[in-house]
Amino acid sequence: MALRVLSVTSELHPLVKTGGLADVAGALPIALVQHGVETRSLLPAYPQVLRKIGRAKAVHSYKALFGGPAKLLSVQTNGLDLLLLDSPSLFGSREGGPYGDLSGHDYADNWRRFAALSAVAADVAAGALKGWQADLVHAHDWQAAMTAAYVRHGRAPQTPVVLTVHNLAFQGRFDAGIFPALGLPQSAYSVDGVEYYGGVGYLKAGLQYADAIITVSPTYADEIRTPAFGMGLDGLLRGRGDAVHGIVNGIDTAEWNPAADPHLAAAFSMRSLGARSGNRRALEKRFGLKRGKGPVFAVISRLTWQKGIDLIVDAVEHLVAHGGRLVVLGSGDSAFEGALLAAAARHRGLIGVVTAYDEPLAHLIQGGVDAILIPSRFEPCGLTQLYGQRYGTIPIAARTGGLADTIVDANDAALTAGCATGLLHDPNSGEALKAAISRAIALYWAPGVWSALRKQGMRADYGWGRSSARYAALYRSLVDRNRTA
Ligand code: ADP
Ligand code: GLC
Repeated sequence: MALRVLSVTSELHPLVKTGGLADVAGALPIALVQHGVETRSLLPAYPQVLRKIGRAKAVHSYKALFGGPAKLLSVQTNGLDLLLLDSPSLFGSREGGPYGDLSGHDYADNWRRFAALSAVAADVAAGALKGWQADLVHAHDWQAAMTAAYVRHGRAPQTPVVLTVHNLAFQGRFDAGIFPALGLPQSAYSVDGVEYYGGVGYLKAGLQYADAIITVSPTYADEIRTPAFGMGLDGLLRGRGDAVHGIVNGIDTAEWNPAADPHLAAAFSMRSLGARSGNRRALEKRFGLKRGKGPVFAVISRLTWQKGIDLIVDAVEHLVAHGGRLVVLGSGDSAFEGALLAAAARHRGLIGVVTAYDEPLAHLIQGGVDAILIPSRFEPCGLTQLYGQRYGTIPIAARTGGLADTIVDANDAALTAGCATGLLHDPNSGEALKAAISRAIALYWAPGVWSALRKQGMRADYGWGRSSARYAALYRSLVDRNRTA
């Protein structure tokens, strides 16, 4: 019998995306179909979402949801079955992104917006929709984590809840003063509930109440149970014992397919790597790079401390001095944007920077450069190293989290065995990054090595096959446990 899952997320590709969460929330439901799992995804009906979908049907309404009227819209699109929370006061038109304004400040009512999303998820889990009942709820990140609290204190408290943590750095911490407005019983404000260091912690609450916690790679699952990576939650995570799982993300291999990618200037496969030069030319034009023989490196990233962008800024002179060129596509911290633009101005023709969010350009870069730099300080999973490998772009990445789990370092043993797919270096060290860039340039010029690395990466299977099977097995074990309880 099909298992019905309600997935609760604040982003979903191709409708709204700020990072990898959207990719996962968009691809996992499709991969789960083959395992007999039917997913309905609940997300806010932001204006950009409403613009992209066709006609949607109202299936439920609220006279007053956290201060305003709201509707649940149902629509099928891109192989996904969606429930959109249409609440003009919470998710209607604003100057900015899904979480904050144009100057990067979080919206002051985020606590209310994402409590509402979670409360609605619990309503749906309790049977608010005619003719559709979820067997299990799967919440993503802090924005949906309160779902676990609302389910536990709601009308169907036995419904299993799975929480996937995509990034422990984003916790949704708010002042204790919001608690009365959340509509939870007073008993929920405790160390075993939503209380967190004298305030309310949304992610903390989810970690506390969820039946299972998944994070997006086995190494990150180990790391977050240590003080160095636990961001204050390592004790709680250790206390959850076997409920914590590490399942590495897959990628959507149809969306990211170099042989049929509409965003590329030239499609290619393992047997026609030469065609990549068409993408290279397009990039040289777009980024104003001079033609050259040496390797072209890329960065495609949120420009933040997590991603080690300061280390890249420090390494650019080294990279250029050793014959490399660099293209950067990213947005975020304005100090990093400024430093990268200044580097491009110093090295005109060798470094090009686009400070924007541009999905088609991200594809073209993966299809045209030689290597992608990912010196993250921590990385729950990371997707750009997976897209890179599928597109013949060699990842040069910090040995942490999912990067350590999805890249085989080109050390002597791996080179001899013919299984290397990238280069790993110590995290948090500018010197280690520079040494890795030098090592990459040497491998680039060594006869036959670079194309072998490319092919090994392209042969690897980074689709959702195995990981979606693990999600499905976990769902079933929780639903069975619930049925026999
Ligand atoms: P995170 O979710 O922490 O940002 P991931 O590597 O998991 O990191 O996912 C990042 C996703 O966002 C990838 O799909 C990547 O291609 C995309 N991305 C990041 N920055 C940009 C950008 N400036 N333009 C287009 N895509 C971007
Ligand atoms: C987060 C993490 C990233 C991960 C993505 C999808 O944004 O920072 O490492 O790949 O979520 O799970």
